[in-house]
Amino acid sequence: MLTEAKNQLLTRVGPRTKMGDLLRRYWHPIAGVGEFDNNPIKPIRLFGEDLVLYKDLSGCYGLIARQCPHRRADLAHGWVEGNGIRCNYHGWLMNEKGACIEQPYEDIANPSPHSKDRCGTDAYPVRELAGMLWAYMGPHPAPELPVWEPFNWRNGFAEVVICEVPCNWFQCQENSCDPVHFEWMHDNWSNVQKGSSVRAAKHLKVEFEEFDYGFVYKRVREGAGETDETWTVGRVTLWPNGFFLGDHFEWRVPIDDDNTLSISWFFTRVPTESEPYVQDKIPTWHAPIKDEQGRWITSHVMNQDIVAWVGQGVIADRSKENLRSSDRGIVLIRQRFFDEMDRVEKGHEPKGIIRDPALAKNVELPTIMKKIFVEGIPLKDFEKYPVLKARLTDFRWHAGQPKEIRRAFEQAIGITAR
Ligand code: FES
Ligand SMILES: [Fe+2]
Repeated sequence: MLTEAKNQLLTRVGPRTKMGDLLRRYWHPIAGVGEFDNNPIKPIRLFGEDLVLYKDLSGCYGLIARQCPHRRADLAHGWVEGNGIRCNYHGWLMNEKGACIEQPYEDIANPSPHSKDRCGTDAYPVRELAGMLWAYMGPHPAPELPVWEPFNWRNGFAEVVICEVPCNWFQCQENSCDPVHFEWMHDNWSNVQKGSSVRAAKHLKVEFEEFDYGFVYKRVREGAGETDETWTVGRVTLWPNGFFLGDHFEWRVPIDDDNTLSISWFFTRVPTESEPYVQDKIPTWHAPIKDEQGRWITSHVMNQDIVAWVGQGVIADRSKENLRSSDRGIVLIRQRFFDEMDRVEKGHEPKGIIRDPALAKNVELPTIMKKIFVEGIPLKDFEKYPVLKARLTDFRWHAGQPKEIRRAFEQAIGITAR
């Protein structure tokens, strides 16, 4: 249980909030590169700020304030040129640094070199990595953008999945440190929805450990001993707002206090007989969270999580909860966030920031099934691993995978639809 004041500290992310200040010290994935194949401009809201993300004709990405510095027209209606984005109202041109570089009428009527002074706008650096675009919205110098080791894996099919979740980011992230919910929300609830009374293997023991880039949670379930990788390796609550499960990452990026951008990166190594495999480009798709009748989708793993998160309320009221031993991980991450917010307020560098470029090139994480992702296995052995076996028939994480992406996946793996 938390006081209302402490709950606000964890959940408010706008400018000049303690959590906003902390989270802005990190790079965040904000879009898929594939989103810019057909449309070079994407309006986006992050940490309570309205912005436009664009790719200009030179291939440079920019993330700048959505409203034009002239008379505040919406730059989402502008167009991109060789070196920036042009406002559709009076044609001012802005570049990725937020500088105003052309003012067409002024350049004729009043061609003073100073006319563009103080006409700049807010701008944030953007980088491309692993088929995603990453933004840094904190003070400079920006830290290194960590290249998590799986981004360097070869011979794999990756995809980026995006959706917007109408609730606060922190309850989404608490779910990254919550092993017991798998048994109930994903296993038992899925069974119940199928009309089955079968109950999943019970959790017998859970442990939580902190490391440089987050926390690891470990579990022992009925039928699996302490030699199982879910106990010896565990899963990663990636600091500050991610989750790493071996074959995929999930991030929960605050749009504002009431909405969260869910962006995930999935990887499947192709079978050894399909190697070498080089993916031309990593596709991005947008996942629905409600069906055509407006009902929540509850069939897929992350859709189930989303139902839980949204069900907790737009901002979960943590003054009314009752934490027990299953929630030790939740307590640990909350405390770490309180401590790190204080550190930033005192002018210190928070947890997990990387300043060493050599280290940032390949940051290792505890990884279940790592040997399989790094060395590969033949297709016949996919059957031995539930995560891989499930991928052969369906994409079980999010509903709505587009058919063309499924087809590309099947071609990469060397299977046809079953
Ligand atoms: S409002 Fe954008 S150029 Fe005038
Ligand atoms: Fe879950």
